[in-house]
Amino acid sequence: MENRFTKLLGIKYPIIQGGMAWSSDAGLAAAVSNAGGAGIIGTGGRTVEWTVEQIRKAKSLTDKPFGVNVVLLAPNVGEIIDAVCAEKVAFVTLGAGNPVPHFEKFKKAGIKIIPVIPNVKLAQRVEEKGADAFVIEGMEGGGHIGSLTTMALLSNVPPKVKIPIIAAGGIVDGRGMAAALLMGASGIQMGSRFLLTEECPVHPAFKRRVIEAVDTDSVVTGYSRNSGVRCLKNDFTARFLAKEISGAPQEELNRLATGTNRLASVEGDINNGAVQVGQSLYPLDSIKTCKQVIEDIIAEAERTLAEAGKIKLSLE
Ligand SMILES: Cc1cc2nc3c(=O)[nH]c(=O)nc-3n(C[C@H](O)[C@H](O)[C@H](O)COP(=O)(O)O)c2cc1C
Repeated sequence: MENRFTKLLGIKYPIIQGGMAWSSDAGLAAAVSNAGGAGIIGTGGRTVEWTVEQIRKAKSLTDKPFGVNVVLLAPNVGEIIDAVCAEKVAFVTLGAGNPVPHFEKFKKAGIKIIPVIPNVKLAQRVEEKGADAFVIEGMEGGGHIGSLTTMALLSNVPPKVKIPIIAAGGIVDGRGMAAALLMGASGIQMGSRFLLTEECPVHPAFKRRVIEAVDTDSVVTGYSRNSGVRCLKNDFTARFLAKEISGAPQEELNRLATGTNRLASVEGDINNGAVQVGQSLYPLDSIKTCKQVIEDIIAEAERTLAEAGKIKLSLE
């Protein structure tokens, strides 16, 4: 499956693993890259030391390209960016903030720039400023979300830009991948599907909860404050939403959410932590290796695309 996105990154398949704070480390990123996609180390909530250590570890585990996700609102964002540039990874994905002021540093370091984009206006802006590609992330996905669905983004964005588009949000199988490619994407990014892999470091209780979850089990916290986060309904989301609806000040909500990603992903407290995952939950029914995930998705996408050619839309 060679296309301009696989050529841009020098990878076999147009699949990247979304950066996931507290859930994607060197082991997961390297496993995805070794399987022919591109893995991403999530630096959200992490120190510069951890970031450098994980980049070096990933380099020792794979000779294939991998990336780093930088959360632009992180308090240590400047130091993280300097460290990533010094370590010279293949590419970065940039979310939660304005990516443009940081482009020059990455360009100088020879690092490909892939911002995460919620609408057409920003897509055009990052294209004009020199991004190499971008991720459009629909609100079906796990973690921080915007207001448009993946279907709406795939309808709106491709006709308006030229650089490669990577579709994300609710894509967990080959049918989803095929649909995204047919609608104009050059690749896909998946977070939730890679949570259920042997190489993903999240706590076994988190993985079990995701396997048990059904399609309607997720909820979005913080949506009314323009900071929506999709995770599974539990005691934490009930507490948060009650406060949000009652009009509690933002600082109180921030305090309530602080540490909850780590609590769920690392400690395995699936009642009081934020179990971030997307809406396409039924297909997430088993833990596989990253290699199995990628091979299954590519095989199913190829079957789906072949079948698509047989669909007749009018009577003959
Ligand atoms: C547990 C989890 C943590 C995430 N953390 C981040 C993050 O730190 N930075 C980011 O840009 N996106 C983050 N995301 C979003 C993913 O990178 C990806 O875009 C999203 O998972 C795609 O939708 P899907 O979950 O339906 O595959 C996270 C997603 C999950 C599930």
